[in-house]
Amino acid sequence: MQFIVIALILQVCLGQDINDNSFPDDFMFGTATAAFQIEGAWNEDGKSPSNWDVDIHNNNSIVADGNNADIACDSYHKYKEDVAMMKAMNMNHYRFSIAWTRILPNGYGGEVNQKGINYYKNLIKELQLNDIQPFVTIFHWDLPQTLQDYGGLLNDSFVDWFSEYSTVLFRHFGDDVKWWITFNEPQSVCSGGYGAGIVPPLIKSPAIGEYQCVHNLIKAHAKAWRIYDQQFRKTQKGKVSISLNTHSHLPATDSKENRTAAETQQLFQLGIYANPIYLGDYPEIVKTRIAARSKAEGRSQSRLPAFTRDEIDFIRGTYDFFALNVYSAYLVNSIAEPPVTDPPSNWADIGVNTYQPDDWEKTSAEHIKVVPWTIRPLLNWIASHYNNPGIVITENGYPSWNGDKDDRRLYYIKNYLSYIRTTMEEDGVKVLGYTVWTLLDNFEWTSGFTQKFGLYEVDFKTLKRTRTPRPSSIFYGKVSKTRCLVE
Ligand code: NOJ
Repeated sequence: MQFIVIALILQVCLGQDINDNSFPDDFMFGTATAAFQIEGAWNEDGKSPSNWDVDIHNNNSIVADGNNADIACDSYHKYKEDVAMMKAMNMNHYRFSIAWTRILPNGYGGEVNQKGINYYKNLIKELQLNDIQPFVTIFHWDLPQTLQDYGGLLNDSFVDWFSEYSTVLFRHFGDDVKWWITFNEPQSVCSGGYGAGIVPPLIKSPAIGEYQCVHNLIKAHAKAWRIYDQQFRKTQKGKVSISLNTHSHLPATDSKENRTAAETQQLFQLGIYANPIYLGDYPEIVKTRIAARSKAEGRSQSRLPAFTRDEIDFIRGTYDFFALNVYSAYLVNSIAEPPVTDPPSNWADIGVNTYQPDDWEKTSAEHIKVVPWTIRPLLNWIASHYNNPGIVITENGYPSWNGDKDDRRLYYIKNYLSYIRTTMEEDGVKVLGYTVWTLLDNFEWTSGFTQKFGLYEVDFKTLKRTRTPRPSSIFYGKVSKTRCLVE
């Protein structure tokens, strides 16, 4: 009798308005951060300045509250506290990034900085002592300024710079790290940094530099994956992928035009990166639309560079799983063909209209509305387009001003997880893990300290950077422990 009761508890979680089946034992629950957003110690122990350090120091008006990330959460000194916080939440993995500027201060071709290596070795050791899998992002936006000075991602040599850096990481950390992410959110880097120019390196070149960045980034990812595959996989037995971000793009109505528009939008946002890697080459619609518009602008070549046959073969298949950052959704309408403009725009290349209805619950971030149900069609879209590759959600989280509304954060996480569980069960989509953005309030890029995503609150008013658990962290800890969406 007792045995039957325990068995029932293990499989059914007794939820009410949520999926009440338990998550598989090997499903990974974790949290994510990034070096620039939490570490601080911006010029300690041989670290060189990144493009973000330099651009913010030169012009702090690009950050909403005029702050910089020189100290951030001081995790460079407080990493043991961070790990203890994860332990308190029974986490299975921790997704963090390595600062290129700590490992290779010259960016390329120089000495490896032993102090930088030691810092991450210590962090990884601390994680292992607490049974938490390190899940490492190689590049989370903070490029050594030395490489930015040579054009950053617009320079074709970026592919070699990135290979060298990745190889150093595989060599030093690969015995202990089994999960690798080459790039975090390429779309944010290429559109924000080299297209709209609203984040470092602040280069405004919409739909031109932007696509050059996409092209080089994909090649760099593929080369790093191949290096791992050929030189390290046999002995280290890890997995390598790339964290792609997208919203769920859903047709505003069920008309054929709107369904095509939503598909086009999804292919431009996600497919432009995922298709070359998972299938080979850019999506057809992306190639034809950009080529046609480039021609109408009087150009002899498409603004989207083309991969050669060899490159297509080299890039195709460079993944071991699908890593997805997802926070919200947009509805999509078809529109009349946008006029040709100078300069061109990525929006006009796509040629659809996207919006979020007024009755979707808002958060402090303009683009994040609380619509957890929209994860189900997105996961299905990925599974059906890319052959059900096994998805790890590498980011999902809820922001608020001043850290209020933690009850809505709890609701957000719980309901995302509920829809993920349903998608796994009812649609057969393989989801391997889920990662909350973020462990603790941190430096939210150009929003500075104004937007708080943390399961832990951080007091930025004193240098102690005291951490305090929010109720959502207690909830998430129970979920990981019980594998159930219990409060
Ligand atoms: C995207 C990025 O990967 C992360 O650095 C950022 O803080 C969160 N999402 C929230 O905006």
